[in-house]
Amino acid sequence: MRLAGKTALITGAAGGIGRAAAQCFAAEGASVILSDCNHTGIFEVREDIKKGGGQATGIVADVTKEDEIVQLFSDIESSFPALDILVNIAGGDLEPVADIELIDYERMSKNLDLNLKSSILCCREACRLMKPRRYGRIVNMSSLVYRGSPGQFSYSAAKGGIFSFTRSLALAMGPYRITVNALAPALVDVPVFEKVLGPERWKTMAEDAAGRYPLQRIATPDDVAKSALFLASDDAAFITGQILEISGGARL
Ligand SMILES: NC(=O)c1ccc[n+]([C@@H]2O[C@H](COP(=O)([O-])OP(=O)(O)OC[C@H]3O[C@@H](n4cnc5c(N)ncnc54)[C@H](O)[C@@H]3O)[C@@H](O)[C@H]2O)c1
Repeated sequence: MRLAGKTALITGAAGGIGRAAAQCFAAEGASVILSDCNHTGIFEVREDIKKGGGQATGIVADVTKEDEIVQLFSDIESSFPALDILVNIAGGDLEPVADIELIDYERMSKNLDLNLKSSILCCREACRLMKPRRYGRIVNMSSLVYRGSPGQFSYSAAKGGIFSFTRSLALAMGPYRITVNALAPALVDVPVFEKVLGPERWKTMAEDAAGRYPLQRIATPDDVAKSALFLASDDAAFITGQILEISGGARL
């Protein structure tokens, strides 16, 4: 088991990718702290993990609120012996507009709050706990759109910002033996797409993307979870400041 004895916090743990990561980490022996703003979702994932014999605890937090992030880490500090791993997965595109003239100040701000500021603040709190122990694994969630995506202006800016922040933090945390890396998936098959777009539009979008990716399919949540596992494990002990594209060869 690659994470035996480790405690891992996963934000966005009730979502498509977060759920897969939580299950994968628990199966590898980690004690998983599931966090999300979706209370029911966390409960379901926690029950699934426990049924499979794994260890999981749920803590509800809205990562767009600094006081809730501070409280989340303070709860962890008082209830767990240590925090070894942080995987920042909570996020999503709140402003998928096609036209630069349609950018809305409020939506843009919320997109940056949800995707970029939340990751920075969670890293700040995690480093506070990890630095004295001189050990830590941080995995941030970027996206392949960090390279640029017409129509996803504030989202791609946030995901690009996560990459820059990841490199900066890796430089600063190296002496403390804390590694900081980022994931950049292309399109992933998660239930939220069908829910938002409807089955027909989602099928067309997924098939279109699969046709453009050299490996001829889109990613599964497990593809992303296993990459997060690698970066969070000691197999990746000498890897820091990197972005791992989980893209089936897209945009090479
Ligand atoms: N699905 C994709 O194609 C894809 C591709 C690249 C990157 N990503 C990134 O992967 C991450 C997970 O996305 P997903 O595809 O699993 O989507 P998802 O919507 O299934 O999961 C997102 C999770 O984040 C939670 N969340 C949203 N706002 C929150 C808040 N304010 N506080 C706490 N939790 C909050 C949601 O409740 C949900 O459980 C996101 O950061 C997303 O940007 C997704």
